[in-house]
Amino acid sequence: MIIAVDGPTASGKGTIAKALAAHFGLPHLDTGLLYRAVGHQVALHGGDPDDAADALAATQFPEGLLADPALRSEVCGGLASQVSVHSAVRAALLERQRAFAAQRGGAVLDGRDIGTVIAPEAEAKLFVTASVAARAQRRWAEMLQRGEDAAHEAIAADLAARDARDAARTAAPLRQAADALLLDTSALSPAEAIAAAIMLVDGKIAAQGTAR
Ligand code: C5P
Repeated sequence: MIIAVDGPTASGKGTIAKALAAHFGLPHLDTGLLYRAVGHQVALHGGDPDDAADALAATQFPEGLLADPALRSEVCGGLASQVSVHSAVRAALLERQRAFAAQRGGAVLDGRDIGTVIAPEAEAKLFVTASVAARAQRRWAEMLQRGEDAAHEAIAADLAARDARDAARTAAPLRQAADALLLDTSALSPAEAIAAAIMLVDGKIAAQGTAR
């Protein structure tokens, strides 16, 4: 079974995807990490994330980079959003993600275009979202834990800008797949959001069983 989890930054999709993977005993791929690694690699080499050739060259990042905690920073998130606009970058990362999705037994992938581009055949698709205010509040708490400091307004503005860039780009924009189930986590705790996600996937599996 392939489970596709898409949604904007700080919607809770990563936490939900990880929990779904544990619950259903499936491997999990955080595809945002691949784009973050590309963004970080561009910066390390003094390249320009808005330049397609520089960004494409950075898709050859060393595997070890994926374990670098620096990838979790806001700066890397911004760089990832910039490099992910280039269709050549998306194409270079496509096979790796498709192969992960197609492995025997299935997988859980989270990102922006899993249900629409990477695994349109996924048996269960969730589109996880939350209000900008709720996401800014979560991001602020996460940053505080990491010892980073930022004003609430700046975080909200950055989230809104990143949403706009992810949704407006021509290559695989962020959008809900027609057959994805919507999960709004604005008013939910992580445990409630996970429980809701498991219920939605269980419902989808049951419906497919009935349809067969
Ligand atoms: O999910 P995360 O915040 O780690 O993603 C960082 C950035 O990578 C996103 O803002 C988005 O621009 C890009 N991304 C993407 N497609 C994916 C996953 C992430 O374009 N499947």
